[in-house]
Amino acid sequence: MAKYPPEPFRIKMVEPIQLLDRPQREKALQQAGYNLFALPAQAVFIDLLTDSGTGSMSQEQWAALMQGDESYAGARSYQRLAQAMDEVTGFRYFVPTHQGRAAENLLAALLVKPGQYVPSNMHFDTTDANIRARLGRPVNLVVDEAFDPSSDHPFKGNMDIQKLRSFIQEVGRENIPLGMITITNNAGGGQPVSLENLRQVAATYHEAGIPFFIDACRFAENAYFIKLREPGQSHRSVREIAREIFSLADGATMSAKKDALVNIGGFLAMNDEALYRQACNELILREGFPTYGGLSGRDLDAMAVGLHEGLDEDYLAYRLGQTAYLAGCLSEAGIPIIQPPGGHAVYVDAGSLFPHIPRDQFPGQALAVELYLEAGVRTVEIGSVMFAYPDPDSGEIMHPRLELVRLAIPRRVYTQSHLDYVVEAFTRIYARRDRVCGYRFTYAPDLLRHFTARFEPVQQQETAF
Ligand code: F0G
Repeated sequence: MAKYPPEPFRIKMVEPIQLLDRPQREKALQQAGYNLFALPAQAVFIDLLTDSGTGSMSQEQWAALMQGDESYAGARSYQRLAQAMDEVTGFRYFVPTHQGRAAENLLAALLVKPGQYVPSNMHFDTTDANIRARLGRPVNLVVDEAFDPSSDHPFKGNMDIQKLRSFIQEVGRENIPLGMITITNNAGGGQPVSLENLRQVAATYHEAGIPFFIDACRFAENAYFIKLREPGQSHRSVREIAREIFSLADGATMSAKKDALVNIGGFLAMNDEALYRQACNELILREGFPTYGGLSGRDLDAMAVGLHEGLDEDYLAYRLGQTAYLAGCLSEAGIPIIQPPGGHAVYVDAGSLFPHIPRDQFPGQALAVELYLEAGVRTVEIGSVMFAYPDPDSGEIMHPRLELVRLAIPRRVYTQSHLDYVVEAFTRIYARRDRVCGYRFTYAPDLLRHFTARFEPVQQQETAF
C-alpha cells in the first residue's frame, strides 16, 4: 500500500473549489473545443494541469511581499534577490525575467543562429519552440531508458554521453552555439539527472568549447533525488548538491514558478560578462530594466524567499513523497505509469492504456478529456499534440516516443483525499478503457499548438478495423 507523508505545514487560508455536474462538464468541454487549456478555472475541480505558478506561498513569502520596493532602478527587492541568487546558485550575473520562457527567448535571441543545433537531454516545449523560433534545431539526446516506462533506472533524465559526443562530431562544434540539460527532465517524465552525468555533460560540452546552460526549473527536486539515490551523496545537504550542480554550468534559465515556489518569476543567469551586458540590452528592449525584468519589486522578494524555501529538506521529502503516493495508488489500480515516478508529476502512459487509439488520434488527449468528463480533473497531454512536428528536412511528421498524460501536482496545495479522488476516477475509466475514442484537430497553430488547438472526437466506427 502506498503511504502518504504528513504535510510539514498546516492550512491557514482556504480557497473553495466546486465540482460541476456531468452535463455542465460536457458543455464546458464542448465550448473549449476539447482543449482543457480553454476551460475556465471555475469549471475545474482538481487542477493538475501544471505545477507552474500554481503553488501556495508560505507565510514568510506573503510577509516578504509587503516589503516590496517598487523603485524602477536598484530596488532593495532586487538586492535581496541578488543575495539569494548568489547564495543558492553562485552565478556571477543574472537578470530577472517574468518567467522561464522569457529567459529562454533572451538566450536563444543572443546565441542561436539559423540552422544551428542545441542539444539537451530533452527540451521542454517552450525551450524547443524558442530555439525553433530562431530557426535553430533543438536536439534530444536522453538515455534510452527514458523511453522504457517500466525501467526503474534511478536517473532516467540522464543524457547519453556517447550520443552527445557523436553528435558534436557529426555536426561540428561551430554549429552548436550552446548545449543544455533540463533538470528534472519534464518532457521525459520529470526524471532526475545524476550529479555524475551532469559532471560528464559539462566536461563534454567544455572540451568542445560549447557553453553549457541548465534549464533549472526543478533544480531542488533534482538535487533531492541525487541525495536519495546517488551513491556517495546521502550525507550532503540538498543546498550543497544544488550549488555543485550550478557550479558545473556557464549559466541557467529558470522558471521560478516551479522550485522557487512563486506564482510568477524567473531568471537568466550566467558567468560571462559580455553575455550579461547583451542580455541586459535585450531585457531593456522587451522586458524591463535589469533590476526588475518585467516583475514588480514584491515578486522579486517572494522569489528571494522561495529560492531558499524550495531547498528545505522536510518540504522536499513531503513533495516527492506525495508524488510517489499518487504513483503508487495508480500502479496498484493497474494504470500504466512511468516508473519510477518523477518529482513534480505522475506521467500516465496513455499509449498503452488505449492501444486501440492511433497516434494521430492522440491517445493522451483522449485520456485528458476523459478525466475531466469523469471527475472534473484537469491534466495535460504530453505526446503527439504537444510534440509531433514535421521534420525540417523530410517534412515527415515525427511523433515523440511516448503518448503521455501528466498529472502535475501544485506545490503545497492538494491533500491526500484530493489525490484519492483522482485515483478513483482513473479506476472507473480503466474499467471502460476500450470504449474511449480518439480526437482530431479542427484548428492547430504551427508552434506550441497544445495551448490553443481545438479538437473533435473521432467516432468509434470511423476507426473500426
Ligand atoms: N523549462 C521547463 C522544464 C518547464 O517545465 C517550463 C514550464 C519552462 C521551461 C518554461 O517556464 O512556464 O515559466 O515560461 N513548464 C510548465 C509546465 C509550463 O507545465 O510544465 P515558464
